[in-house]
Amino acid sequence: MEDREVELGLEQWGGEELLIRRDAPTGAWIGIAIHSTVRGPAVGGTRLRRYPSVHAALVDVLRLSAGMTVKNAVAGMPCGGGKAVIAVPGPLTDGEREALLERYAEMIDGLGGRFATGPDIGTGEADMDVIGRRTAHVFCRSLGQGGSGRASPWTAAGVQAGIRATLRHRTGSDDLAGRQVLIQGLGEVGGVLARLLHDAGARLLLADVDRERVRATVAALPGAVEVPAEAVIGTECDVFSPCAIGGVLNAETIPQLRCLIVAGAANNQLLEEADADHLRAAGILYAPDFVINSGGIVRGIGAERLGWGEAQIDARIQAIGETLEEIYRDSERLDISTAAAANRLAQEALTPVEVVSAPG
Ligand code: NAI
Ligand code: PHE
Repeated sequence: MEDREVELGLEQWGGEELLIRRDAPTGAWIGIAIHSTVRGPAVGGTRLRRYPSVHAALVDVLRLSAGMTVKNAVAGMPCGGGKAVIAVPGPLTDGEREALLERYAEMIDGLGGRFATGPDIGTGEADMDVIGRRTAHVFCRSLGQGGSGRASPWTAAGVQAGIRATLRHRTGSDDLAGRQVLIQGLGEVGGVLARLLHDAGARLLLADVDRERVRATVAALPGAVEVPAEAVIGTECDVFSPCAIGGVLNAETIPQLRCLIVAGAANNQLLEEADADHLRAAGILYAPDFVINSGGIVRGIGAERLGWGEAQIDARIQAIGETLEEIYRDSERLDISTAAAANRLAQEALTPVEVVSAPG
């Protein structure tokens, strides 16, 4: 990469601090991106996976960290946005993984509270417990270790509330009974979402690259139908719910979509912001990802830092639907995409708030 390219990329990112370290014992690269601390300490999950290149991992962490800034702002959390990636070269033994996470936790601790983390793709409660051995700046440790546990069921609940609000706006009814919902990715969030939607009477079309996982989910939910992972784009449905990877909405896929709305948990669903305009032109109502998928952070931060009880957390998660309604109205009034309307809302919220006390 040319020097100027690095400079341009970082300028475009517009964040505050980027820490990159090679973990010699495992060969992993660790990147922590603090995008904004305007509203308080940066909070965002840790993504642990293999990447095709270090460059790809860095692009991911920069984009994801910026997404956390707007997510936390629109959700009204007293925090900024950040994210971390751990790009591992291959499978690790349990011992290697624990030692890597402990070294990573020491990096977080060295940031003195400017960044606190939680789970994301490839990490869960047990990993947060390991991180918690070396730093207090961690959310979603297990209940036994004093954390609030998994955040994904609350993310899924927020996505369900968002699907209802988006359907209501697009069709006049938020009734899920008989609606065809196509879920891409049946992991932590998608698996719980499938159960919630099934119980609400939706007709499920389920896809995952992990065939065992999709078969087990289909078997557990009578009436659900498997869709091959490679056939997701182009499968007809009412609701397309991306709950796996980013970049699924792009110039190639949007013309093939046959759905009324896109409403799912995955971060960074749009490859480029202009893709939101393309969805709008196609008559597809897009629920901005960083709004609809904020249930997990609301739960983690609400329970662990703000002293919220379950009723208050649930009310905030249901309010995701109202926020989306506001965004859809703004989008129509201002003749802009829903993503642009959501970003406007985020910019309005990007002012300092009372700083949340240091975790721990
Ligand atoms: P996960 O790793 O538990 O599940 C992802 C699932 O997607 C896995 O079953 C995987 O096999 C599948 N998958 C991967 N590539 C696929 C493809 N091309 N087609 C179909 N399936 C594919 O991750 P989790 O926690 O459920 O998160 C899903 C998405 O939601 C991620 O983008 C994450 O950043 C986002 N998110 C998660 C939150 C949480 O509370 N866990 C909160 C907010 C966003
Ligand atoms: N993966 C979560 C997200 O993208 C991050 C997170 C969850 C951080 C819970 C803190 C607490 O929103």
